[in-house]
Amino acid sequence: MSRETTQALIERLGQRLGPAGLLTAESDVAPFAIDWRRLFPGRPACVARPGSTAEVAAVVRLCREAGAALVPQGGNTGLAGGAVPDGSGTQVVLSLARMTAIRGVDPVGLTLTAEAGCVLKVAQDAAAAAGRLLPVSFAAEGSALVGGVVATNAGGINVVRYGMTRGLVLGLEVVLADGEVVDGLRALRKDNAGYDWKQLFIGSEGTLGVVTAAVLRLAARPRHAATALLAVPDPAAALRLLTLAQEEVGDSIQAFELISGPSLGLVAKHAGLRSPIGEAGWSVLIEAASSLPGLRDAMEAVLATALERGDAVDGVLAESGRQAADLWALRESITESEAREGTSVKHDVSVPITAIPDFLEEAGRVLAAQAPGTRVNAFGHMGDGNIHYNVLIGPEHAAGTINRLVHGVVDRHAGSISAEHGIGQYRVDELVRHRHPAEIALARRIKAALDPDGLLNPGKVLARD
Ligand code: MLT
Ligand code: ZN
Repeated sequence: MSRETTQALIERLGQRLGPAGLLTAESDVAPFAIDWRRLFPGRPACVARPGSTAEVAAVVRLCREAGAALVPQGGNTGLAGGAVPDGSGTQVVLSLARMTAIRGVDPVGLTLTAEAGCVLKVAQDAAAAAGRLLPVSFAAEGSALVGGVVATNAGGINVVRYGMTRGLVLGLEVVLADGEVVDGLRALRKDNAGYDWKQLFIGSEGTLGVVTAAVLRLAARPRHAATALLAVPDPAAALRLLTLAQEEVGDSIQAFELISGPSLGLVAKHAGLRSPIGEAGWSVLIEAASSLPGLRDAMEAVLATALERGDAVDGVLAESGRQAADLWALRESITESEAREGTSVKHDVSVPITAIPDFLEEAGRVLAAQAPGTRVNAFGHMGDGNIHYNVLIGPEHAAGTINRLVHGVVDRHAGSISAEHGIGQYRVDELVRHRHPAEIALARRIKAALDPDGLLNPGKVLARD
């Protein structure tokens, strides 16, 4: 794209969106040009900030006419570099942040309809104000936007009970690559009429269309919660604890998180937070919630049995909401503490839940032998098989080599190289190595059908042609 074409496009975007809808100054576009971990720097031509679905459609049309690539961006909290532009200076960042409306909450039908730019926490609070629960929850919920949550099929801490975002989206409004608006904002529990096309856009990371609004499924808001932190001798014991918890309070478990000793060490060092049961070995954070009373007694029984069997060596059950929040703060501070410690190679893998102890043991062995000097920060959503096997490295280590070592172990356990963070630009090459050629070919056919000019978030999920 020539400089003149880019300039002409910026002018047309300015005319259509007005001053509030377009950023061009370098200092204004800077926050949109790089991810929060500052690993994927880019340089956009400009940042378009439409305030309505019609304006999103107009931006898409204008960019298409000019042959300019578009990079949809939500809260820019992703960990795979999926929402930032390349360094060409020709891509337009399409920020959805001005589309903040909650279009409706239906506490009886259990749905919430929000625009793409609504902050996840704001949507959660709106559901709570109506006495209901919006179950998607993760550390970045105060900045992540609903559109990004949907476009990345976000996971988080409650997947063990409520599933991924994919299962919580009832309806979707999207703008296609040619600017057409498809309104599928139906709030139906059952809708089996034809292709469930919305699923194509959920998790497509802005490569197939732009999500502008969604109808999300709400759940009953549990009245009672019990949160416990247990120290376990090893991951195999954590697995036995999971089975025990499933048997005793199974339908109430809404989080089952595994935390390694080194993770708690990082949190103590950088966030100044200490575990009430020490940092050695492994810990498990369990949260159960229910509308029925008696949960605390049931959780106490789980703790007692685990201690008796030797599957836990210590444990604490939160006495108040405040104490529960303190326990969660330990878990939620891991990512930021890791970032403060230095360079890390992130892995967002899943394996069958029963394979987690073997995966952790094998990955540790492989790294010790083939990448000496690395340090492992392993933690994650054990209840749904998702481990963040993050590796702290020094200048002598190559990130790609570490990736391949860890993903090799994932393959041996029939796992996935991305459980919840997505592919973005970070895992594009790895995706090709870990999916069957026929799966990649099918993905390319879908991309070609929906984005024939390749202008939607090029180079994300799939490598450029
Ligand atoms: C988390 O679960 O805290 C994040 O998804 C993981 C990460 O920072 O790798
Ligand atoms: Zn996670």
